[in-house]
Amino acid sequence: MSTAPAPLRDAADWRADFPALRQSVHGRPLVYLDSAASAQQPGAVIDAVASYQREDHANVHRGVHTLSHRATEAYEGARDKLRDFVNASSRSEIVLTKGTTEAINLVAQSYCRPRLQPGDNIVITHLEHHANIVPWQLVCEQTGTELKIAPINDRGEVEVDGLYGLIDEKTVLVGIAHVSNALGTVNPVEDIVAYCRDREAAVLIDGAQGVPHLPVDVQTIDCDFYTFSGHKMFGPTGTGVLYGREALLDAMPPWQGGGDMILEVTFDKTTYNELPYKFEAGTPNISGAVGFAAAVDYLQRIGMRQIADYEHELHDYMVSRLRGVDGIRFIGEATRKASVQSFLLDDIHSHDLGTILDHQGVAVRTGHHCAMPVMQRFGVSGTCRASLALYNNRDDVDRLVAALEKAREIFG
Ligand code: ALA
Repeated sequence: MSTAPAPLRDAADWRADFPALRQSVHGRPLVYLDSAASAQQPGAVIDAVASYQREDHANVHRGVHTLSHRATEAYEGARDKLRDFVNASSRSEIVLTKGTTEAINLVAQSYCRPRLQPGDNIVITHLEHHANIVPWQLVCEQTGTELKIAPINDRGEVEVDGLYGLIDEKTVLVGIAHVSNALGTVNPVEDIVAYCRDREAAVLIDGAQGVPHLPVDVQTIDCDFYTFSGHKMFGPTGTGVLYGREALLDAMPPWQGGGDMILEVTFDKTTYNELPYKFEAGTPNISGAVGFAAAVDYLQRIGMRQIADYEHELHDYMVSRLRGVDGIRFIGEATRKASVQSFLLDDIHSHDLGTILDHQGVAVRTGHHCAMPVMQRFGVSGTCRASLALYNNRDDVDRLVAALEKAREIFG
């Protein structure tokens, strides 16, 4: 009889679950503050993928043999866990993709492209990641339609009235981040969705930086599409989800053609598979899905509410400690933030600062963070960005602050 694993107790336990955090870099214990770029994986994820590869691997949906059944069960089991994780109403609404970027491109090409007529528009905001900008630019170019950009204020918050002023009867879709990857701003997505619903504009939420830090319920948010990536939430790279309302997905044509997305193929006509398989052409990332499911299990064992509360307190601590560093300039001071703080120190280039920090064992991201328009808005070429996850603690923040003080000494 199998016994359920003991519940995890506190943040010290969580940290101990991540083998990569046990190493030293440049002779100093690693402080990993780059989870917004990619989060580390707990042993449970690493082991689940290794066990699948060792014992269960075969192709899915195609075989009558035992290993193919096991692989199919694991892959479809991952879909069920992801459905539960974001509370979608049906497993048909969970399309497995290789990440947020692919999910947004799918919506641009399959939902928007057939609908967009000259004179129509898509609305996004100034704080988006390139993945929530370029797919819309492409589809607007393809259809001769307009991409409108809602402004942000000096704190890095979307000017909601400015956003609403851009939405009109010609708006086909509004795309907005749940949490800004460069600034950490948490957007009021439920309010925005409610406003758009009254005006019949669809809403896509880029949730890549939302799901690792906040409880997400797509039915409460009431959005039409929600996208996220496995590797930002402690799962493998090359995994992601497009959540879409069933009625919308059902009416959309397939985006890519190939095996598994069909019911029947003749040279005269192909009939497509049912949801969600219509959008999953070709052999998928099966081992990635296994790891993604293990990441969901891991997060659910702790509980997203507990993670959000823990990180909120730690983020406040980080902001207050960083404020005490002479010469620091914050980029992004929204009232509601999660995980991230971007900053510059004196006139030190962000890459130089990041390199000095790395030599002290502190990993941060530097540069434009795939959000060049944010950098343009604040008149900088890039920033240093410290991003927290559930495995960080106050000691990590203290080490970051000490490393910044050291950098000031080095640069004089
Ligand atoms: N989107 C990733 C980041 O914010 C790569 O760093």
